[in-house]
Amino acid sequence: MPKLSDRVESFTDSVIRRMTRISDEYGAINLSQGFPDFDPPKELLDALAKAAYAGPHQYSITFGAQNLREALAGKISKTLGRAVDPDTELCVTCGSTEAMMAAMMTICNPGDKVMVFSPFYENYGADAILSGAEPIYIPLVPPEYGFDLQLIENGFRQGAKAIILCNPSNPCGKVFTREELTAIGALALQYDAFVVTDEVYEHMVYAPNVHTAMASLPGMFDHTLTCNSLSKTFSITGWRLGYVCGPAWAIEGAKKVHDFLTVGAAAPLQEAAVAGLGLPETYYEELLKTYTQKRNYFLEGLDRIGLKHNVPQGTYFVMLDIEAFLELPRFSGFTDLEFCEWMIKSIGVAAVPGSSFFREPVNHLIRLHFARQQSTLEEALRRLEKMAAMLTSVQ
Ligand SMILES: Cc1ncc(COP(=O)(O)O)c(C=O)c1O
Repeated sequence: MPKLSDRVESFTDSVIRRMTRISDEYGAINLSQGFPDFDPPKELLDALAKAAYAGPHQYSITFGAQNLREALAGKISKTLGRAVDPDTELCVTCGSTEAMMAAMMTICNPGDKVMVFSPFYENYGADAILSGAEPIYIPLVPPEYGFDLQLIENGFRQGAKAIILCNPSNPCGKVFTREELTAIGALALQYDAFVVTDEVYEHMVYAPNVHTAMASLPGMFDHTLTCNSLSKTFSITGWRLGYVCGPAWAIEGAKKVHDFLTVGAAAPLQEAAVAGLGLPETYYEELLKTYTQKRNYFLEGLDRIGLKHNVPQGTYFVMLDIEAFLELPRFSGFTDLEFCEWMIKSIGVAAVPGSSFFREPVNHLIRLHFARQQSTLEEALRRLEKMAAMLTSVQ
């Protein structure tokens, strides 16, 4: 057999997306892969129906349709407190997934070091391998998910070209404070490095926490490639629309990578998405209210049935501590992956094993999400209650 590249041999398929496939196979409630089970706003659906007949159906401008870039630039300008040029400082991509890959390919030469927090969204591992970068992992230490700034300075001293920052952070729900971002940003400026941010959960930040965009801090726009997406904000993960925003000279590079990776995002979907960006501020307030209710309901439910968990400051993920289960003879020697497979088959709820997010050998955490309709969350909690009963029945 001819040999495949070392590149593809050096990482596995996504564990998150694999859990979805197993969940579907067994008909479980899928709280693994993060996507909502409710509809996008009607305005987007109407605009999509219209685009089906009126078009466009041919390639859009490779770096994004003009009207979508203008609409995005309007929104991002408000977030960053500075006018963003839709022609030069923005490139529309196929989701934040492509935006991250394009950003990494734009700034990294093979062998360049890049800092990645651990736990991290699993795409970043593959992004580093595909772009030839060597990750330096900076632990976010549970349960508070704090970090040691000195380790970041050490990373920059070793020549790290960039730090990847997921804010709010998947999987641990950490929202970086303004002070933390200022400190990281100051180091990036001092060492003339980049910050690549992934801010897809910017609208899911729970009071009293607030989202601060790294690129909005003084001096940071020129050192930040902000990757973001419409997937979560408008409940359209299947539309594959995102963007990378940054200084014109860097975006020029990202546009070239994007052009040859994908040519462009789907033209009719870009057209329809413009309607979403035209929604008033109240849309984002309602979205946050909805997710706040879901978070409170789900976390209170976990407390009631006695399952130990973290309290996410943002995102729609929660980490469950399964240590007590792994101490039961029934689960002796289980990995977190085996535990998740057992959960799907025996409890009917799908989660993601925490080990797929951590560099460190962590086996006692699994990730669930609550981007589900109320009735689905109710049923999931009923099923999880049966699981929790295994703990009380042995006491
Ligand atoms: C942190 C993070 N970044 C990016 C993505 C993917 O975003 P997109 O659908 O825009 O590619 C996800 C999806 O779960 C995510 O959690």
